[in-house]
Amino acid sequence: MSTTIDQTLERASRTESLEKQRRFINAYWLRPENAFWMYLRSEALSLVPIRGPIADLGCGDGVFSFLHADGVFAPEFDVFGAVARLEEVQTNDADIFDHVDDDYAPGIVSPPTFRIDVGTDLKSNLLGKADRLGFYDRLTPCDHNVALPFSDDSFETVYCNTAYWVENVEGFLAEVARVTRSCGTVVLQVKLDAIADYTMQSHGSVLGDRWMGLMNRGRIECWSSVCDRLTWESRFASAGLEIVGEVPIATRTHAHIWDIGLRPIAPMLIKAMNAIHPHLRAEIKRDWVDLFAELLRPFCDSNMDLFDEESEPAELQYVLTPR
Ligand SMILES: C[S@@+](CC[C@H](N)C(=O)[O-])C[C@H]1O[C@@H](n2cnc3c(N)ncnc32)[C@H](O)[C@@H]1O
Repeated sequence: MSTTIDQTLERASRTESLEKQRRFINAYWLRPENAFWMYLRSEALSLVPIRGPIADLGCGDGVFSFLHADGVFAPEFDVFGAVARLEEVQTNDADIFDHVDDDYAPGIVSPPTFRIDVGTDLKSNLLGKADRLGFYDRLTPCDHNVALPFSDDSFETVYCNTAYWVENVEGFLAEVARVTRSCGTVVLQVKLDAIADYTMQSHGSVLGDRWMGLMNRGRIECWSSVCDRLTWESRFASAGLEIVGEVPIATRTHAHIWDIGLRPIAPMLIKAMNAIHPHLRAEIKRDWVDLFAELLRPFCDSNMDLFDEESEPAELQYVLTPR
């Protein structure tokens, strides 16, 4: 039976998706639950045409956006090679990634297909890491709780997956509207508070504070402005942002898998993998990535939900434009 053009294109697009999944798993391998979530974000973001100048607000180390833009890292690169304060994770909720060495140099096989004009973040170490990707034209440390250091109408596209981390979210959204050109595009990927119902958070009274602390390690506390869909939408309206489209990024099923993940044991895993010979690390990593590429494959679909009843997504992507 002959193969149609449609079948050939479908096969090529499937191969491309699998390669992309693998690139995300490779970069975030010791936290596979983050790897698939990042991939889902990238898939949702791929639905939106991106025009420059582009701002990536809260870009962190830039690895997500680099991978989204089809940059390819060398197999040995991952975000766990350059970490610090592993011992303080349990005691101080330390951010192990908030650290950059002078010789930090991610191996790059091929650069992304586009560049980002501006990246921002609160943490200058993370911006230092982003700088080494050679992918951002400018990296600006700033706190999104106060006015953004950009003039009106600076950007054609503003992307942000960290709005729900900002305490003064109303002020931040108004700033996002101000710096985006009229007819420009704002892409916000936000968590919904329904996620609490899909995690152990809703069983805190049974499990106790100590257990919740060991499991969460401060992650929920970072989400100062997480809320329901209606509240996000009324915040957008107050900030002068009109909704052009919305798509779910992650379902209740994704949230359940992500909830447990490898978070509590990640510091020990990272320490072990960074202490062994690079050849052995590479060998284990290859087998690990092979395994998780298969295990995560069914979940690399934003609509994948194993529950029968409909429920609110755990995370949504909004596409907005200034009014
Ligand atoms: C989960 S990380 C996401 C980073 C990146 N966008 C990514 O996808 O990998 C959240 C980022 O938001 C940054 N952040 C948190 N609060 C912030 C604030 N008030 N102003 C600027 N950046 C902030 C953190 O430093 C961190 O890099």
